Formats: sequence, structure tokens, C-alpha cells
Amino acid sequence: MEPDARTLKIEAARAALEHVESGMKLGLGTGSTAEEFVRLLAARIEEGLRIVGVPTSERTAKLCRDLSVPLTNLDDTPELDLAVDGADEVGPALTLIKGGGGALLREKIVAAASRRMVVIADESKVVDTLGRFPLPIEVNPFGLGATVVAIRAAAGRLGLSGEISTRMAGEKPFVTDGGHFIVDASFGRIPEPEALAQALNSIPGVVEHGIFIGLASLAILAGKDGIRTLDAAGRVGP
Ligand code: A5P
Repeated sequence: MEPDARTLKIEAARAALEHVESGMKLGLGTGSTAEEFVRLLAARIEEGLRIVGVPTSERTAKLCRDLSVPLTNLDDTPELDLAVDGADEVGPALTLIKGGGGALLREKIVAAASRRMVVIADESKVVDTLGRFPLPIEVNPFGLGATVVAIRAAAGRLGLSGEISTRMAGEKPFVTDGGHFIVDASFGRIPEPEALAQALNSIPGVVEHGIFIGLASLAILAGKDGIRTLDAAGRVGP
């Protein structure tokens, strides 16, 4: 019988635990795979592992509190040893799309504050070209319409087009932990993620976007044949 999606997430999360040592300061990701990591981590803490974690969302913070995982923040602990987080897409050189869970801003801040970032995912997240997953872009609510026009124009200059929709939570826009909105851009293919990242960064109303470049050092991928790893240079490991 083939493993189900949750089993794969747990397997990837379990493999990431091997990178955790007592005394580490950890970044704790957001999403269903990262939550499996937090659960396994909590069990190890009960057995005596000593770590502190910086959660990347209020949702992860609550899970950590419920499971008695010790927490800190980037003011008291500005430099972390390791961030462990999921991803919506894993592309060449470990470029990522993140933000499907709406936590991309804190996830990127935490990843950038970490010496290493390990991505945990099931194999289905691996792509040759980013963009099949709609790109989450966190925007300031002020000037939303103008910001979307600017995003569309910037994308157009790179030959990208597609629907750009405000993420909703019922009748109202979804609001991030930082109090911003998210627009999801369905470009289909993003062959030049660096160029798009730079273009988005130069739009004043864009707070952050879900393209992660140069942040992940290792991806741990779970599939029906077991675990494999991928590093940023494209090396495949057991
Ligand atoms: C959260 O904002 C995202 O970046 C998640 O890390 C990403 O959506 C992966 O989530 P799953 O592990 O639930 O697929």
C-alpha cells in the first residue's frame, strides 16, 4: 500500500529531526508538514532535548505552547541555528514558493535569520519551473488596487500574466499575522524567479513575496520509495 500524504509529511519531518542537536535555536515553520515537525520535536523535548524555537506564525506559536515547546523571539534571539519549514514548491537550486498558509513574511524573516534552512516536503512539491502554485504576495491593505496594477505591470514586463486575486477568508480578505493582505498570482510558469523577485521588491505596496531564493540549504523529500535529500547545488542524497 502506498503511504498517504500525512505519512509522507511525518517521514520528512522525522528525517529533519536528525539535523537538530541539543542547545540549538530553531526557526519553526508553518503549515501541515512543519506542524508534524513540531509534534515530533515536542516528543523529543519530553525525552530531554533542549532547544528554543522562534515560531513563524501565531498558529505555530499556539501549537508550540500547547505542546510545551520553549519559545523565544528574534529580539531576544536574533540569530538561529536552523529553520525547518515546509514549502508549496521546490524548484531548481532550492528556489521555493512559500506562503500558501499565509505566513511567508515571518517565514522569510526567520529563514534569513537562520544559519541553515531545511525544507521538508513530500515529493509532489518538486517542480522543474516554479509557478504552477499561485505565487502568494503579501501587500499593504492601503492602495491594494494600485499595488495589484503595479504587480501586473511588473509581471508583464517579464512576459508573465495570469489572474491576481485577493485571498479571502469567507466574505473578507484574509489578514496575515502582520495585518496585511495576500494576493495570489497565477502566472503558471516563473522561468526567471530572481527577476520577478527583484521586480516585486521594488513595488512600494508589496510587503514581501513568496519566492525564496538562496535561503534553503537542504530539502528533505518524502516519496513512496522513501526519503531523498536535495541540496542547493542539485546534489541528491539518501
Ligand atoms: C505557509 O505560509 C507556507 O509557506 C507553508 O510552509 C507551505 O504552504 C507548506 O505547507 P504544507 O506543509 O501544509 O503543504
